[in-house]
Amino acid sequence: MEIIIKPNAAEAQQEVARILRRQIQRQPDSVLGLATGSTPIPVYAALVKMHQQGELDFSRVITFNLDEYVGLAADHPCSYRGFMQQHLFGKVNLTPKNIHFPDGLAKDVPAHCAEYEAAIGGAGGIDLQLLGIGRDGHIGFNEPSSSLASRTRIKTLTPQTVKDNAKCFGSPDQVPRHVITMGVGTIMDSRHCLLLATGEAKADVIARMAEGAITADVPASALQMHPSCTVVVDEAAAAKLKRHEYYRWVYENKPPWQRV
Ligand code: PGA
Repeated sequence: MEIIIKPNAAEAQQEVARILRRQIQRQPDSVLGLATGSTPIPVYAALVKMHQQGELDFSRVITFNLDEYVGLAADHPCSYRGFMQQHLFGKVNLTPKNIHFPDGLAKDVPAHCAEYEAAIGGAGGIDLQLLGIGRDGHIGFNEPSSSLASRTRIKTLTPQTVKDNAKCFGSPDQVPRHVITMGVGTIMDSRHCLLLATGEAKADVIARMAEGAITADVPASALQMHPSCTVVVDEAAAAKLKRHEYYRWVYENKPPWQRV
């Protein structure tokens, strides 16, 4: 796991946007796994700007989003599909048929989840998976106790996540309790994982994820087993890392060819 510590949130977000730009420029038909949440919003804004400046062509990019609320239609204002439309899909030249999303209204959820897995496989697998992290250690919506080998399936949110995600819905009572999410195993199959976390509210979980035990209690800790995982954090989110100085040292002394 490579940990890149940036002085502030804006620089961490820029770094992640830069890594995504490089991926798309090097491989214009990249398969990207995408994340929602407040953390990646400035990353998507930066990608939109790069597109508008003619630096990024999304026409051959294929996307798979991590998760969606069960019971919400794609056009619901709080759906993750709607979020992506607002922040990225509606502003770049992605080809609609290349956009993949779990269907919150799927009638047969297990069959739909199996189809989603098959679609990822059919696209050749995910080249780069963008991730956030929940304060409880979730990636995607793989809440604590999720199998570290799990595949796309339905999950029940923790009360903490319901509370954390209530903003769009007005009150926690309105937040769906269930979601469809790629599994930890699905995420682990991506060729590269790129996790962004900013702010002091994430400091505890970043330390547990990167330096604690690998445990289903912190599903993101499975990333310690990923052969190619980059974690980009700001100083606030890095504050509780024991090896803080060492990560900085590694980053500063990297041979140029090894940089993401
Ligand atoms: P956040 O969510 O970016 O809104 O903090 C992260 C997550 O739940 O994965």
